[in-house]
Amino acid sequence: MTPSPCIIRSHDAERLARLHRHCFAEEAWDAEAFAALLGMPGCRGWLTAEDEGQDSPLTALLLARQAADEAEVLTLCVAPTHRRQALAKQLVRRLIETLARQGVVALHLEVAVDNRAARALYRGFGFVEIGRRPNYYKAVTQTAPVDACMLRLELCG
Ligand SMILES: CC(C)(COP(=O)(O)OP(=O)(O)OC[C@H]1O[C@@H](n2cnc3c(N)ncnc32)[C@H](O)[C@@H]1OP(=O)(O)O)[C@@H](O)C(=O)NCCC(=O)NCCS
Repeated sequence: MTPSPCIIRSHDAERLARLHRHCFAEEAWDAEAFAALLGMPGCRGWLTAEDEGQDSPLTALLLARQAADEAEVLTLCVAPTHRRQALAKQLVRRLIETLARQGVVALHLEVAVDNRAARALYRGFGFVEIGRRPNYYKAVTQTAPVDACMLRLELCG
Protein backbone atom coordinates (compact mmCIF):
# COMPACT_ATOMS: atom_id res chain seq x y z
CA MET A 1 0.00 0.00 0.00
CA THR A 2 1.27 3.53 -0.81
CA PRO A 3 2.14 5.35 2.44
CA SER A 4 0.33 8.61 3.15
CA PRO A 5 2.46 11.72 2.73
CA CYS A 6 3.57 13.53 5.92
CA ILE A 7 4.08 17.27 6.19
CA ILE A 8 7.76 18.23 6.05
CA ARG A 9 9.14 19.70 9.30
CA SER A 10 12.36 21.60 9.92
CA HIS A 11 13.98 18.55 11.57
CA ASP A 12 13.67 16.68 8.22
CA ALA A 13 16.35 18.83 6.52
CA GLU A 14 19.07 16.16 6.81
CA ARG A 15 16.87 13.39 5.34
CA LEU A 16 15.65 15.68 2.57
CA ALA A 17 19.23 16.44 1.57
CA ARG A 18 20.10 12.72 1.54
CA LEU A 19 17.28 11.90 -0.90
CA HIS A 20 18.01 14.98 -3.02
CA ARG A 21 21.63 13.84 -3.39
CA HIS A 22 20.47 10.45 -4.70
CA CYS A 23 18.20 12.09 -7.25
CA PHE A 24 20.13 15.19 -8.40
CA ALA A 25 23.81 14.31 -8.20
CA GLU A 26 24.92 17.48 -10.01
CA GLU A 27 22.67 20.05 -8.40
CA ALA A 28 21.68 18.57 -5.06
CA TRP A 29 20.71 20.87 -2.19
CA ASP A 30 22.38 20.29 1.18
CA ALA A 31 20.75 20.20 4.61
CA GLU A 32 21.54 23.88 5.23
CA ALA A 33 19.79 24.85 2.01
CA PHE A 34 16.71 22.83 2.97
CA ALA A 35 16.73 24.26 6.50
CA ALA A 36 16.86 27.80 5.08
CA LEU A 37 13.99 27.11 2.66
CA LEU A 38 11.85 25.54 5.38
CA GLY A 39 12.26 28.70 7.43
CA MET A 40 10.89 30.90 4.65
CA PRO A 41 7.31 32.16 4.76
CA GLY A 42 4.96 30.23 2.47
CA CYS A 43 7.26 27.25 2.09
CA ARG A 44 5.68 23.85 2.67
CA GLY A 45 5.99 20.29 1.52
CA TRP A 46 5.28 16.61 2.01
CA LEU A 47 7.41 13.52 2.17
CA THR A 48 7.02 9.76 2.19
CA ALA A 49 9.43 7.44 4.00
CA GLU A 50 10.18 3.74 4.14
CA ASP A 51 8.55 3.52 7.56
CA GLU A 52 7.25 5.77 10.31
CA GLY A 53 10.53 6.19 12.24
CA GLN A 54 11.82 9.73 12.42
CA ASP A 55 15.13 8.63 10.85
CA SER A 56 13.60 6.36 8.23
CA PRO A 57 15.03 6.98 4.75
CA LEU A 58 12.78 9.06 2.54
CA THR A 59 11.22 7.64 -0.59
CA ALA A 60 9.85 10.92 -2.00
CA LEU A 61 9.68 14.64 -1.30
CA LEU A 62 7.95 17.69 -2.69
CA LEU A 63 8.63 21.25 -1.58
CA ALA A 64 6.64 24.27 -2.76
CA ARG A 65 6.39 27.95 -1.96
CA GLN A 66 3.29 30.12 -1.96
CA ALA A 67 3.30 33.89 -2.41
CA ALA A 68 -0.04 35.72 -2.43
CA ASP A 69 -2.39 33.72 -4.67
CA GLU A 70 0.27 31.88 -6.70
CA ALA A 71 2.66 29.06 -5.83
CA GLU A 72 5.61 27.24 -7.31
CA VAL A 73 7.06 23.76 -6.97
CA LEU A 74 10.63 24.19 -5.71
CA THR A 75 11.66 20.58 -5.96
CA LEU A 76 10.20 17.11 -6.35
CA CYS A 77 11.97 13.76 -6.39
CA VAL A 78 11.39 10.07 -5.77
CA ALA A 79 14.08 7.56 -4.76
CA PRO A 80 15.16 5.55 -7.82
CA THR A 81 14.09 2.31 -6.09
CA HIS A 82 10.55 3.65 -5.52
CA ARG A 83 9.72 5.17 -8.90
CA ARG A 84 6.64 4.25 -10.94
CA GLN A 85 4.65 3.57 -7.76
CA ALA A 86 2.57 6.74 -8.01
CA LEU A 87 4.47 8.53 -5.20
CA ALA A 88 5.06 11.68 -7.25
CA LYS A 89 1.46 11.68 -8.42
CA GLN A 90 0.30 11.43 -4.82
CA LEU A 91 2.50 14.34 -3.66
CA VAL A 92 1.52 16.62 -6.55
CA ARG A 93 -2.16 15.82 -6.00
CA ARG A 94 -1.80 16.64 -2.28
CA LEU A 95 -0.18 19.98 -3.12
CA ILE A 96 -2.82 20.92 -5.70
CA GLU A 97 -5.70 20.02 -3.37
CA THR A 98 -4.18 22.02 -0.51
CA LEU A 99 -3.51 25.09 -2.65
CA ALA A 100 -6.94 25.01 -4.27
CA ARG A 101 -8.61 24.86 -0.84
CA GLN A 102 -6.67 27.99 0.12
CA GLY A 103 -7.74 29.93 -2.96
CA VAL A 104 -4.40 29.80 -4.78
CA VAL A 105 -5.11 30.41 -8.47
CA ALA A 106 -2.00 29.13 -10.23
CA LEU A 107 0.90 26.75 -9.70
CA HIS A 108 4.20 27.19 -11.56
CA LEU A 109 7.30 25.08 -12.01
CA GLU A 110 10.32 24.53 -14.20
CA VAL A 111 11.42 21.25 -15.69
CA ALA A 112 14.27 20.29 -18.02
CA VAL A 113 13.02 19.86 -21.59
CA ASP A 114 14.61 16.40 -21.73
CA ASN A 115 13.02 15.16 -18.48
CA ARG A 116 10.50 12.84 -20.11
CA ALA A 117 9.20 11.31 -16.87
CA ALA A 118 8.55 14.62 -15.10
CA ARG A 119 7.00 16.25 -18.17
CA ALA A 120 4.60 13.32 -18.53
CA LEU A 121 3.72 13.57 -14.85
CA TYR A 122 2.89 17.28 -15.09
CA ARG A 123 1.04 16.88 -18.40
CA GLY A 124 -1.20 14.38 -16.65
CA PHE A 125 -2.23 17.09 -14.17
CA GLY A 126 -2.95 19.59 -16.97
CA PHE A 127 0.11 21.84 -16.69
CA VAL A 128 0.75 23.85 -19.87
CA GLU A 129 4.03 25.24 -21.15
CA ILE A 130 4.22 29.05 -20.93
CA GLY A 131 7.84 29.63 -21.88
CA ARG A 132 11.43 28.42 -21.90
CA ARG A 133 14.63 29.42 -20.10
CA PRO A 134 17.55 28.66 -22.43
CA ASN A 135 20.53 26.72 -21.02
CA TYR A 136 19.02 26.71 -17.53
CA TYR A 137 20.23 23.31 -16.27
CA LYS A 138 23.74 21.91 -16.17
CA ALA A 139 24.16 18.98 -18.55
CA VAL A 140 24.20 15.55 -16.91
CA THR A 141 24.30 13.10 -19.81
CA GLN A 142 25.43 15.47 -22.56
CA THR A 143 27.88 18.35 -22.90
CA ALA A 144 25.53 21.26 -23.58
CA PRO A 145 23.30 22.77 -20.87
CA VAL A 146 19.60 22.01 -21.10
CA ASP A 147 16.68 24.44 -21.50
CA ALA A 148 13.99 24.66 -18.83
CA CYS A 149 10.29 24.53 -19.73
CA MET A 150 8.20 26.87 -17.61
CA LEU A 151 4.87 25.22 -16.78
CA ARG A 152 1.69 26.63 -15.28
CA LEU A 153 -1.46 25.03 -13.92
CA GLU A 154 -4.62 27.07 -13.36
CA LEU A 155 -6.17 25.95 -10.08
CA CYS A 156 -9.48 27.75 -9.98
CA GLY A 157 -11.39 30.80 -11.09
C1 LIG B 1 9.84 12.49 -12.26
C2 LIG B 1 9.64 11.67 -10.98
C3 LIG B 1 9.43 12.62 -9.81
C4 LIG B 1 8.40 10.77 -11.17
O1 LIG B 1 8.18 10.08 -9.94
P1 LIG B 1 7.37 8.72 -9.86
O2 LIG B 1 6.94 8.52 -8.46
O3 LIG B 1 8.15 7.62 -10.48
O4 LIG B 1 6.10 9.03 -10.78
P2 LIG B 1 4.67 8.34 -10.66
O5 LIG B 1 4.84 6.88 -10.43
O6 LIG B 1 3.83 9.09 -9.69
O7 LIG B 1 4.13 8.54 -12.13
C5 LIG B 1 3.16 9.53 -12.45
C6 LIG B 1 3.15 9.77 -13.95
O8 LIG B 1 4.39 10.32 -14.36
C7 LIG B 1 4.76 9.81 -15.65
N1 LIG B 1 6.00 9.05 -15.53
C8 LIG B 1 6.68 8.76 -14.39
N2 LIG B 1 7.83 8.12 -14.69
C9 LIG B 1 7.87 8.02 -16.03
C10 LIG B 1 8.83 7.47 -16.93
N3 LIG B 1 9.96 6.88 -16.49
N4 LIG B 1 8.58 7.56 -18.27
C11 LIG B 1 7.45 8.15 -18.73
N5 LIG B 1 6.49 8.69 -17.91
C12 LIG B 1 6.72 8.61 -16.58
C13 LIG B 1 3.61 8.94 -16.10
O9 LIG B 1 2.71 9.76 -16.80
C14 LIG B 1 3.01 8.52 -14.77
O10 LIG B 1 1.65 8.20 -14.86
P3 LIG B 1 1.21 6.66 -15.15
O11 LIG B 1 1.90 5.84 -14.10
O12 LIG B 1 -0.26 6.71 -15.00
O13 LIG B 1 1.72 6.35 -16.51
C15 LIG B 1 10.86 10.75 -10.72
O14 LIG B 1 11.18 10.04 -11.91
C16 LIG B 1 12.11 11.47 -10.25
O15 LIG B 1 12.29 11.67 -9.05
N6 LIG B 1 13.01 11.84 -11.18
C17 LIG B 1 14.27 12.52 -10.83
C18 LIG B 1 14.02 13.91 -10.25
C19 LIG B 1 13.15 14.74 -11.17
O16 LIG B 1 13.29 14.71 -12.37
N7 LIG B 1 12.26 15.54 -10.54
C20 LIG B 1 11.37 16.43 -11.26
C21 LIG B 1 12.03 17.73 -11.44
S1 LIG B 1 10.89 18.93 -12.10
